[in-house]
Amino acid sequence: MSESNIDLVVFGGLGDLAGRKLLPALYQIERAGLFAESIRVAIVAREDIETSGFLRYAEERLKASLPAEDWSDAVWARLGRRCSYLKIDFSNQKQFEVLSAWTLPSRVLIYYLATPPSLFGAISQHLQAAGCLDDNARIVLEKPIGHDLASSQAVNDTVGRYFSERNIYRIDHYLGKETVQNLLALRFANRLINSQWDNTCIDHVQITVAETIGIEGRWGYYDQVGQLRDMIQNHLLQLLCMVAMEPPNSFAADEIRAEKVKILRALSSSDRSKIEDQAIRGQYSAGWIEGEPVVGYTEEVGCSDAESDTETFVAIKAHIDNWRWSGVPFYLRTGKRLGEKVTQVVISYKNHPHAIFPDRKDTGMNRLVIRLQPNEGIQLEMASKKQSLKDRLSLEKRTLNLDFFDATGESRIPDAYERLLLEVFKGDQWLFVSREEIEASWIWCDRLIEAWHEQKVKVHGYSAGSSGPSKAEMLIERDNRAWFEE
Ligand code: BG6
Repeated sequence: MSESNIDLVVFGGLGDLAGRKLLPALYQIERAGLFAESIRVAIVAREDIETSGFLRYAEERLKASLPAEDWSDAVWARLGRRCSYLKIDFSNQKQFEVLSAWTLPSRVLIYYLATPPSLFGAISQHLQAAGCLDDNARIVLEKPIGHDLASSQAVNDTVGRYFSERNIYRIDHYLGKETVQNLLALRFANRLINSQWDNTCIDHVQITVAETIGIEGRWGYYDQVGQLRDMIQNHLLQLLCMVAMEPPNSFAADEIRAEKVKILRALSSSDRSKIEDQAIRGQYSAGWIEGEPVVGYTEEVGCSDAESDTETFVAIKAHIDNWRWSGVPFYLRTGKRLGEKVTQVVISYKNHPHAIFPDRKDTGMNRLVIRLQPNEGIQLEMASKKQSLKDRLSLEKRTLNLDFFDATGESRIPDAYERLLLEVFKGDQWLFVSREEIEASWIWCDRLIEAWHEQKVKVHGYSAGSSGPSKAEMLIERDNRAWFEE
């Protein structure tokens, strides 16, 4: 159950993120009975509609996006009763008086900024001027927090003038995914796994986040950013931290974040002269996704630069310079318009030093595949004796499968935003990214981007629906390894 003395204010409450993620998450929290009775929700936007107009819009949107079996008029009525719509133009300080009239004494206010980052400063400032801030008010920020170290520092400095770090909740929605948190359970609640989790046992790690979608009408934004900033700087580096960090002393936010920062700071800088082979850039051309033709990146709606060199695919060989991971490469790969949607972490174990089985297959049979989406689960590949009279001591690979969906007995796995909202309500930052983490990850990404510019590293084309440019295969095959494909 969430804390009872809080109120939530969503800026940009009629926007895409709010409609796709926040509203359904609030609905599911209500449905699960996890909303404290007294929590109120204000939806803030500049459109001229009343609360009744918002409720009509929200009901329609929710009905269209939720599975029919999740819909309940009673749940919606309860959620609807909490909601008020406040019409405010974010750039007009005077209009924030509407919000100040809505607030009640002795409540903890949570401001969720589902807005472009360029508005973070103005909104914070107007909140203060309208008397809507006190030492307990929390702010929730969506990515991107800057596009490099300097700009991220500027955003953090601006917001930091109004909110202390303990009240700033920077979202990386990957941390809200159940399966990402399950990495912690897998590693730190299983002696068997934990005791084999270092460079003496692990040969290499692969982290893949492949998407079938393209840039979803966001050409203007995406072309300034590219896949490295859009996905690696945040989601893939957070996954890498979850895989690589030392056990924290506890799950207190400070403890976990301190361990993650250590990993980000230990990421080694790339050797600039070899950057072209160690960090591959790709861009999709026209192709087929799920049997449908799709256009190439520079033919997407909104494209204003047919010569754009922005990457929609990245594959990187990274190293963590510390005792545990010395010598273990982390291969990171992510791209848009790839053949299938899959997010997975693959741990490949080292070979035995000596083979004693006649078919010599008793080396290198162990691999742990952690599927984050879809088909959430874990599989462990193991060697087993072939059950056969003919084959005396032949080995075969068998797989132990842990399917989270079946295992929970639940009909759905909660969405990341449900968990994240509950944590903000609770006032726990353990699943949010600290300023230090953001800065450490930008330092590493900035160096990589600089090296790309310096060495004039071009994008390699790949057809939509493929598994990326062939150069990305070479990145790993050069080391006598291969990307794991199911
Ligand atoms: C967002 C990126 O942060 O994450 C998008 O901006 C990307 O480009 C999305 O598509 C992927 O999220 P998920 O949860 O679908 O893997």
